[in-house]
Order: sequence, then C-alpha cells, then structure tokens
Amino acid sequence: MNKPISLTPRRTRVPAMHLAPHRATIPALRLLGTCAVTAVLATACGGSADDTTADQAALVEQGRQIFRYETFGDEARWTDALRMHEVISAAVDPVTALSVGLKVDAQALPAAVADGIRDGSIDLTRPATTVALLKLDAVVGLKAEVETVNGQDVLKRVGITCALCHSTVDDSFAPGIGNRLDGWPNRDLDPGAIMALSPALDAAARQLFNSWGKGKFDPRQNIDGLSKPVVIPPAYGLQGIHSVTFTGDGHELAYWNRYVAVAEMGGLGTVVEPRLNLNLTNGTEDRVSSRLPALQAYQLSLAAPAAPAGSFDAAGAARGRLVFEGVGGCATCHSGPLFTDANTRLHPPGDSMAEPESPSYAARSATKQYRTPPLKGVWQHAPYFHDGSAASLIDVVRTYDRKRNLGLTPQQVTDLSEYLKSL
Ligand code: HEC
Ligand code: HEC
Repeated sequence: MNKPISLTPRRTRVPAMHLAPHRATIPALRLLGTCAVTAVLATACGGSADDTTADQAALVEQGRQIFRYETFGDEARWTDALRMHEVISAAVDPVTALSVGLKVDAQALPAAVADGIRDGSIDLTRPATTVALLKLDAVVGLKAEVETVNGQDVLKRVGITCALCHSTVDDSFAPGIGNRLDGWPNRDLDPGAIMALSPALDAAARQLFNSWGKGKFDPRQNIDGLSKPVVIPPAYGLQGIHSVTFTGDGHELAYWNRYVAVAEMGGLGTVVEPRLNLNLTNGTEDRVSSRLPALQAYQLSLAAPAAPAGSFDAAGAARGRLVFEGVGGCATCHSGPLFTDANTRLHPPGDSMAEPESPSYAARSATKQYRTPPLKGVWQHAPYFHDGSAASLIDVVRTYDRKRNLGLTPQQVTDLSEYLKSL
C-alpha cells in the first residue's frame, strides 16, 4: 500500500518552496508565551499580576474545553466521509468500545446511570447504550449530536477531539471508566482498528489501519502514503520545550496542533507546511486558528505526573542517576531539568535507538531528524521510542547498552532503569 488514503476531498499540493528555517527563534513570541504562562513574571509583562493570572486561568480553562470537547468541525470526515455514526449505532456496544480502548468519563455519568452500570440493569452489550453515553458526553474524545426521535435516541453526527488519543481515565469506577487524565496518552486505544470499522473504506485500507495496533497512529500516512505508526505521545510536561513532535517539526505546540486538527482529525481550516509539500484546506471556514492559543495554553499547563510512591527503588535510583550522568552518557542529550537538549539541537536518525527502520519516521518528517524527548513522567507511558520498540524502561537501558557499547554491569542496568522510573 503506497498511496495516501484520502479522506478529504480538497487536498492540493504545492511545489516545494525553500526550506523554512527549522527552529527560527522568534524572541517576541517566546517572550509573550513566557509572560502569558508565568504568573510570577506577570508584572514584568505589563498589567497587574492578578489580572494576568485571571486571564491566564480563563485561557487555560477555555483550552481544557477545546482539548476535551472541540471537533473543529471534523464531523465532515468522521460522519460525512467515514460514516462512523452508522457503525456505532449498529454495532458498537460499550463492551466493544472499551475493547478498542475508548474510555468513559465517570464524572459525566448521572448517579442513576452509574448505579445502573454497577448493578447490571444498564446493558453494556447494546449499541443503544453507547449512544446514550455519547449523549451524556461521557465517551472521552468523541463528541456526538444525538436527537430524540419518537422517544428513541438517534446518533446524527459524531466527531473526534484531541482527548481521544491524549487522555485516558484512572479506572476508578471500573476498567476503562474513571476520572479523566488529560495529557496522558491513551496507549490502550487502537485508532487504526476504530477507523477500520468505517463502512466507507475498502478492504485494503481496512487492512492497513488494522495493522497499526494499540496505542499507535501514523499521522503522516494520509500525507505521504507510507505506513509505519508511532506511539501516541504524552501531551504533558512540555512547558519550556520549544521543539515539538518526535522529530522537532515545530517550535511551538500550536504548529502541530494545527497540523493534527486539519490534516489528521479533518477539522475545518488550513495547514501549510512547505517542508512537507503540504497545503491543505478543509471546508470554507476556519474553525481551528482562533482556538490554537487556548489549546496550547492548556497543554502547557499539564505537568508530567510524578512517579507513584513505592514504584521504584530509591537507593537504586540514586545510584542510577550517577550512571545517567556518568558512564551511561545519557545526560549529554537528556540534559538540564527537562532532560532534553531539544531547545538547542536535533539529532541525526542514527541517534535514535529505534533506527534504522523502514520506512524511517525521521525521513518522513519536516526536519529529517529526531528530538531528544523529555523524560519527566517517562514511567507513565511505556512502550518507548517513537515506534514503541522498547517494552519497558529496562529494555530501553539494555538497548542503549548494546547499541552504544556502554559495557554497563547488570547492577548499573537495573539502577539506571530505577532512576528512569523515578523521574
Ligand atoms: C488519532 C490520535 C491523535 C489525535 C486525535 C491527536 N493526536 Fe496528538 N499526536 C498523536 C501522535 C501519533 C503523535 C506523534 C506524532 C509525532 O510526534 O511525530 C502526536 C503528537 C502530539 C504532540 C507532540 C508532543 C511532543 O512531545 O512534542 C502534541 C502536543 C499533540 N499531539 C497534541 C494534540 C492535540 C492538541 C490534538 C487535538 C488538536 C491532538 N494531538 C490530536 C496522535 C493524536
Ligand atoms: C545522542 C543523544 C542521546 C543519548 C546519549 C541518549 N539519548 Fe535517549 N533519546 C535520544 C533520542 C533522540 C531519543 C528519541 C528516539 C526515538 O524516539 O526513536 C531518545 C529516547 C529515549 C527514551 C524514550 C523516551 C520516550 O518517551 O519514549 C528514553 C527512556 C531514553 N532516551 C533514555 C536514555 C538513557 C537512559 C540514555 C543513556 C543510557 C540515553 N537516553 C542516551 C537521544 C539520546
């Protein structure tokens, strides 16, 4: 399969222009960003600290709503083109939905519904129950329009939001049902399998999407026609990092948010990226641009989660830190408080322990390189590397040891892994 599966009618290509300087520094923008996000500095940016803090809080809250509930009009793709509303109404009961990794927001369930799920009086094997949950806005990352026709709930339109891939739940109610954890990648989600349910796709497209697997998605397949998915990364812990995506394609989140909202979700708006020869407009209105500042502010407010108490051996982690900074050589790239050199450089493909791979993900990107990922909260999102080829943190360490000939002792390997678990 070497053909982009086009789900959007209006894609046009532009001839390659000059390569935009990859990480052009825009001091004014940076400064604005800093003023907007750092309340402490607020007075230095004009206006009173209180005003700025309140404005910032409002922006973040607006961004939370967008992150969770905004489709940018992508129903044009998920309903009009892929006809997902048909398949959901006909065949996707809650048990099936949970099995492809969809999550249910327990806070959106009224007490009677929660009780009904607990005591079994609400049937989780009926697609109508899924429609009822959608009507309650309880399915994380799906936004639906449900109409009541003759006393029956009818699913009219459905779209997806950022939370589909970048939120999960804490399972506090039941597996797959709990409080939202925004920014945590949903590594149970099988986006390819979900897309493959579409009655609008042919067998070849279905087979391709079904081959991706849980926790992975290929955000370049419909652009270049190649297929090799990457793991869904966290959307937390990115404050202060001016290089986004595995390959550092943009210097702020809004760059990639626009790309995903338009090119991958099918939202209404425009994305132009000369380095990828991409110039894509969906629809005739722009529902993306005005939402980007709040959306970015919300993501930047999401801190990486701290390692749970008791989840690592503290003495081992303390020894492992010395390996990380010393003989392991890790800190040469995972440097500073954010554990990354992303603000100063990118790396050739060979610096990724997942390369060589075919097709190379870097080769398909705008930069053709990799960014050193930040490591705060890394305990949370196994598997590791952009392709998920390391199942655990000890696998990560063993891979470095082998490929970089570090000659670590078994004790150093374990200690370094405990250190990574503690970050
Ligand atoms: C279908 C799943 C899916 C959806 C929906 C989705 N993303 Fe992503 N997101 C991904 C994947 C896969 C990547 C990795 C791409 C890469 O880095 O090359 C990614 C990367 C990112 C990154 C880069 C993280 C980093 O470390 O630099 C951010 C930020 C992000 N997404 C935010 C969003 C936002 C905001 C939305 C909604 C507009 C969104 N995503 C919608 C799957 C998704
Ligand atoms: C030459 C620079 C460099 C050095 C040295 C280096 N890393 Fe990395 N690290 C990277 C890059 C680039 C990636 C992204 C690779 C990918 O996603 O394919 C990465 C990825 C990782 C990841 C996966 C993070 C994730 O979110 O999946 C972990 C964990 C990690 N490195 C730990 C280490 C440890 C431990 C060491 C020392 C033994 C080390 N690194 C040494 C550049 C480096």
